[in-house]
Amino acid sequence: MAQVIDGKAFAARVRGQVAEHVAGLKAHGIVPGLAVVLVGEDPASNVYVTAKGKQTVEVGMASFEHRLPADTPEAELLTLIDRLNANAAVHGILVQLPLPAHMDAAKVINALDPAKDVDGFHILNVGLLGTGQKAMVPCTPLGCLMMLRDHHGSLSGLNAVVLGRSNIVGKPMAQLLLAESCTVTVAHSRTKDLEVVCRRADIFVAAVGRPEMVKGDWIKPGATVIDVGINRIERDGKMRLVGDVDFASASSVAGAITPVPGGVGPMTIACLLANTLTACCRANGLAEPEGLTP
Ligand code: GUN
Repeated sequence: MAQVIDGKAFAARVRGQVAEHVAGLKAHGIVPGLAVVLVGEDPASNVYVTAKGKQTVEVGMASFEHRLPADTPEAELLTLIDRLNANAAVHGILVQLPLPAHMDAAKVINALDPAKDVDGFHILNVGLLGTGQKAMVPCTPLGCLMMLRDHHGSLSGLNAVVLGRSNIVGKPMAQLLLAESCTVTVAHSRTKDLEVVCRRADIFVAAVGRPEMVKGDWIKPGATVIDVGINRIERDGKMRLVGDVDFASASSVAGAITPVPGGVGPMTIACLLANTLTACCRANGLAEPEGLTP
């Protein structure tokens, strides 16, 4: 039976480390600030934004929340971003995705000051990560990397398979694992002999957004399985949250596995707070917090 990696406890530890650093900065009159911008009333986004604001305050940071109506003109959002870019009390800015259809998400994200782009989605940060330079790194892959490092120590030479090629998770995850000297394969829904490819993985990261697609016989015995999927399905008349991995069968084969819920999910906001702290330290010419960056 696989060891179950407790993301909830891990995230609480990360938040504790962040809070400690924040307290240290406050002694020097510096308060890290995170601005979150939500356009529209998407219920899931609303839940995330509220949770982000709450946890930001809990670690001692300043939280700035901007909720705009769904029909806000793009120009108005860009003006708000300009203001946040210029505001010295704001060290991190997150624009919650998805944006309404009338907005150009790439244009909006690329309007952010890259140094404040705590999501790591700005084209400059994507390029820095891809070329092995100091970047702001997307929160979910950063959380996965922290758990993998904690479990393995060195990842050098391991076969890593990332299932999924999104800009938010799959691609940056692959870059991070490459930087750790893994042999990285990015697989996706069109990959031939997908199960065979997956079975080569010492480290398997599932981020395809298909409920319980990955079965136990896709997993190499003893592999570490990180399940990024968050899928709502109905089973036995109840709504349930399941990952991209079939936990029941995979956990009898894997060496270690993250559950859903309680695995990667809680790590994402913890890493957002870590990135905000990192951005604040950089903005003030201070040393970066150890263990909270890639
Ligand atoms: N929507 C879903 N995931 C994310 C994320 O990581 N960042 C932002 N900004 N929006 C999201």
